[in-house]
Amino acid sequence: MVERVIPIRIDEGKGLAPVMPSSLTAPTSRSVDLRGRPLRDLRISVTDRCNFRCTYCMPKEVFDQDYPYLSQSALLSFEEMTRLTVIFASLGVEKIRLTGGEPLLRKNVETLIAMLAEIKKPDGNPLELTLTTNGSLLRKKAAQLKAAGLHRLTISLDGLNDAVFKKMNDVDFPVSDVLDGITAAQEAGFESIKVNMVVKKGTNDQEIIAMASHFRNTGVTLRFIEFMDVGSSNGWDMKEVLPSKEVIERIHAMYPLEPIEANYAGEVAQRWRYVDGAGEIGVISSVTQTFCHECSRARISTDGQLYLCLFASQGYDFKTMLRSGSSDLEIANAIMSTWSMRNDNYSEIRGQATAELGRSAHKVEMSYIGG
Ligand code: GTP
Ligand code: 5AD
Ligand code: SF4
Ligand code: SF4
Repeated sequence: MVERVIPIRIDEGKGLAPVMPSSLTAPTSRSVDLRGRPLRDLRISVTDRCNFRCTYCMPKEVFDQDYPYLSQSALLSFEEMTRLTVIFASLGVEKIRLTGGEPLLRKNVETLIAMLAEIKKPDGNPLELTLTTNGSLLRKKAAQLKAAGLHRLTISLDGLNDAVFKKMNDVDFPVSDVLDGITAAQEAGFESIKVNMVVKKGTNDQEIIAMASHFRNTGVTLRFIEFMDVGSSNGWDMKEVLPSKEVIERIHAMYPLEPIEANYAGEVAQRWRYVDGAGEIGVISSVTQTFCHECSRARISTDGQLYLCLFASQGYDFKTMLRSGSSDLEIANAIMSTWSMRNDNYSEIRGQATAELGRSAHKVEMSYIGG
């Protein structure tokens, strides 16, 4: 069993919340961090559990029956998540992504979505509400998610060949059930569906062309993600990273591609479109072409810790603030003072950071803070 390092666990009596400045002033919306980056995008992990054991995320040997998953009482309630989201929206956050683990495993997650869908940004418009899922429960849940007010869906799928996909998810889950889930989402009325494929060289890179062929002309945007060294247990090795440049070259040789502009500043995917008009694809190259300089994402873990980077080893405890009578203004100020001190740029300094982290601390697992 690997010890998960969570810096501040009040319930385990290990310490207190990081010190927040006592001289709180009214929050300044659109404040930037030490690298000039605004806070725009909030990812909320609604469960640290998953019914898959993707080898790059929750390897079976580590995430076994002895793994210390969070207890029910440690989880933020829907009311607490909603309250935090209202505060984040007042600070300039425009997009919320629900993640996990597998977010559809959180009981009644559609109730949370309906609560979040009510929240307005300072300009009076709703927040953009999105969710990333492995698709296994979509057939059952897609219509409910749509009715609750979810705007967009991203579904993970790492190949079309059953043997390859099962090797990646490691729980014998068939491709056809995920494809059914995608169809269910389309039937429920979701538009701009995205499919994320993590590419591991030597394991599923032979699926790239099949995946591209399958999703051409479907309106679904397929995105290829470089295998990352998230967490401390996925046995990451640079030798298994297939640079996105090669992904593009392989597809281009079959279906000519041309680059297109980002949808918004800070988009992690680089977009390409098929010259023949069959749609678009994306590549997320967090290893070979880093995008930290525009990173406007914050993450809230299932138990209410704020993480400023996917590769962080330390979070800031907001659950305690939520549960100890702090006002919205105090929480807003604490968020902004935490953000204003943010200097993270892990992907840009990967080599050096890996050496340092190797000596001192564990990075948190992706299933705990969300992708
Ligand atoms: P949209 O553009 O709104 O569709 O979403 P997105 O691409 O920002 O979110 P999504 O969750 O689909 O991101 C896809 C994958 O990119 C994640 O699962 C991660 O693997 C990776 N990713 C997202 N954000 C970051 C980030 O801040 N840093 C790094 N290194 N990788 C990220
Ligand atoms: N490398 C890249 N992406 C990862 N994800 C999880 N683990 C990794 C990793 N090691 C992403 C996948 C999945 C989402 C939930 O998290 O894209 O779709
Ligand atoms: Fe579960 Fe997604 Fe992680 Fe796979 S990548 S184990 S589906 S949370
Ligand atoms: Fe943002 Fe950290 Fe990812 Fe860089 S490595 S893009 S700072 S989350």
